[in-house]
Formats: sequence, C-alpha cells, structure tokens
Amino acid sequence: MTSQLFTPFALRGLTLPNRIVVSPMCQYSADDGCANSWHLQHLANLAISGPGLLMIEATAVERIGRITHGCLGLYSDNNELALAEVVAACRRWGNSFIGIQLAHAGRKASAHLPWEGGGSLASGQDAWETVAPSAIPLSEAWATPREASLADLARIRDAFTEATRRAARIGLDLAEAHCAHGYLLHEFLSPLSNTRSDAYGGSAEKRRRFPLEVVEAMRAAWPAEKPLGLRITGSDWMVGGLTVEDAVEFAKALRECGVDYVCLSSGGISLKASIPLGPGYQVPFAERVRREAGIATRAVGLIAEPHQAERIVASGQADMVGLARAFLDDPRWVWHAAEALGASASYPPQYVRTRAEVWPGAKIVRPRPAQASAAAD
Ligand SMILES: Cc1cc2nc3c(=O)[nH]c(=O)nc-3n(C[C@H](O)[C@H](O)[C@H](O)COP(=O)(O)O)c2cc1C
Repeated sequence: MTSQLFTPFALRGLTLPNRIVVSPMCQYSADDGCANSWHLQHLANLAISGPGLLMIEATAVERIGRITHGCLGLYSDNNELALAEVVAACRRWGNSFIGIQLAHAGRKASAHLPWEGGGSLASGQDAWETVAPSAIPLSEAWATPREASLADLARIRDAFTEATRRAARIGLDLAEAHCAHGYLLHEFLSPLSNTRSDAYGGSAEKRRRFPLEVVEAMRAAWPAEKPLGLRITGSDWMVGGLTVEDAVEFAKALRECGVDYVCLSSGGISLKASIPLGPGYQVPFAERVRREAGIATRAVGLIAEPHQAERIVASGQADMVGLARAFLDDPRWVWHAAEALGASASYPPQYVRTRAEVWPGAKIVRPRPAQASAAAD
C-alpha cells in the first residue's frame, strides 16, 4: 500500500513533498542572536536529508526574549544577514522547505545554557530583567519576572511583526509562533502564570487576547500565500492548568485569524508537572484538535519509528509529524523511513550511492529503539 507519510501536503501556496517535519530545536550556539557555522552545518545537513519541512529553532523576536545568551534571534540587521547566509546554503545544497519558529521566552529568559545547568542567570553573569504576564517565577529557584506593562505588550507585538518581516525578506517558506513550553505566549494563556486583572487576564478569552493580537500582527506582516502556524500546548499536565479543551477553543480562534496549522506539544509551564511519557503521548491532542477545531495539525513527541509515523498520518490523527531527537540521532531518518515504507525520498546527487538500488548490497541501515523521555525547550 502507498505510504501516506510520503504524500504531499498543501498549506496555502506551499505544497510539502511529504509529511515529515524536523521539529524546531534550539542549538544555544548563536552569537548575540546571529547564526554561525554551527547552524550552517546543523541545518544544511538536515536540509539535504529529505524532510518536507525543516523548522529553524525558536528564534527570539527581541534580545530580552532569548532563553540564553546562545539563542538565535531575529531582532537586528546582523541577525537577519547571518540567518540569510545559512538559509542560502540550505537552499543551494538541499531541497527541504524551511520554516522558522519565532519566540519570546518571557519568564524563562535570562537562563544558563542547558549543558551548564539551566536555570536563571545570577547577577554578575550578564543576566537581564525578564517580563511575563504576571510577576510569578517559574519556581523559587528562578528570577521573578516583571509584570509586563501595556507598553511592553505593544513593543513585544511589534517585535513579532518586525521579525516576521525579516523572515519574509530572507525568503523563508513558513512562519510559526511558539506558544508552548512555558514561554511568553503560553504564559499569557495559562491561568497558572497569568493572574492579571486587566484586559489580558482573567477569563480564557482575555488570556487568549495577547497571543491572538500577536498572531494577527504576524499574519498581516507575512505574505498571504505563505502558511503561518503555531506550536500550542495540549495540556499543562497540572490541576488548574490548560487542558486539551482549551487547545480546541484556542485553535478555533486561531483558524479565524488565518492560522493554517497548529503543532500540539505540552508541558513546560511548571516544573511540578508530571508528564505521562510514552510513544506518541501527545498525538491524541493533535487528533482531537484536528477533528474538533477543523484545522491542520502536526503531531510531535516520542515519534521515532517509521511505521508509527505512518500510522499517525494514515489514520488521520495528524496531517504532519514532527521529529526532533530522532533527527539528531539519525539525520537520514527520512531515507531510512522511505526504505521501510516502500516510498521514495530525495537524495542529493553527492550521496545517492547510499541508495540500495543504485549500489546493490549497500544496505547500511541500523535501526535503534527510541528512548522515552521528555525534551521540551
Ligand atoms: C535539542 C532540543 C532543542 C529543542 N528546541 C526547541 C525549540 O527551539 N522549540 C520548540 O518548540 N521545541 C524545541 N524542542 C522540543 C522539540 O521540538 C520536540 O517537541 C521534543 O523534543 C519532542 O519530540 P521528540 O520526542 O521527537 O524529540 C527541542 C528539543 C530538543 C531535543
């Protein structure tokens, strides 16, 4: 039977050749927001490997919106130039479509690199003041953010708009706003982090207001023929936190604003959440939102095996699958999935001799079991 994972998928004027997406992955390796040779080798290597869509990591729309000093940004001309060079290399050698995730880290900004322990930078470590919907820290060990004023909200909304314009100038194919994992836009949505009493807090409708204003501004700044999406949360995994019902209502409102798809992730708003990890544990969120909100979805989280990915798309649980760690482990995941599913994938001519039919006997696939753990950045 024909693989559904390897069928094209249209979002506005963009037709992806398959349903496989490299999920956005922070590399914490930028210089004041500028991409460099690390990003070039990381992204170009994936762009030549056949995914329909390659997502560039969470990219801060303003300097204080970076999680760490190593986070990518799109808040300056230098950032734009540096990223344009990397994208040009990906286009020259690869043929994946390329999207970008635009983000603001809110109260999770000003943090150590994960491999230096994570957590808030201390004074004397070039820390900066963070902003969030309310002055509630992520935990006692994290710095308390300043409650964002209306002027902060206007500036941040404009920063999303300006970064979207920069992404359009670079010629990226798709833009996505990060509204999950406990970062600023998610912080507005969740009652656990938003206790404001003005027009941006209180009821679910008021908590949705700022993220929706940002999305409307991005849609207006982004070319009409290009798709716009969001990564949203399917559950805060906390009593009193967001649930999949909230995700359905939010997705309906997003669809009305001209959003083309949502990617369903979860967690990140509290360090106390207990997350029931297991293969495809977030897929039911993608399925429910797709069915009840009538919007295209991407499923993500512990999807690592080709037949598993195939079943998710073929059964209509999601339109696309996102994979993160499986691609770090095996950048040629798409080629190996195509072999396993009897489909064909795109190879650069330089590497085409790895294909069994081009060089019979050269079967070099070594599948390894996936590991069950969370990775929410
Ligand atoms: C190194 C690394 C960096 C990540 N950075 C981001 C990011 O920039 N934006 C985001 O939304 N998720 C980020 N994530 C989460 C992944 O996109 C993905 O949702 C998560 O790893 C679950 O998928 P997986 O089981 O296929 O790894 C990151 C994950 C990893 C492993």
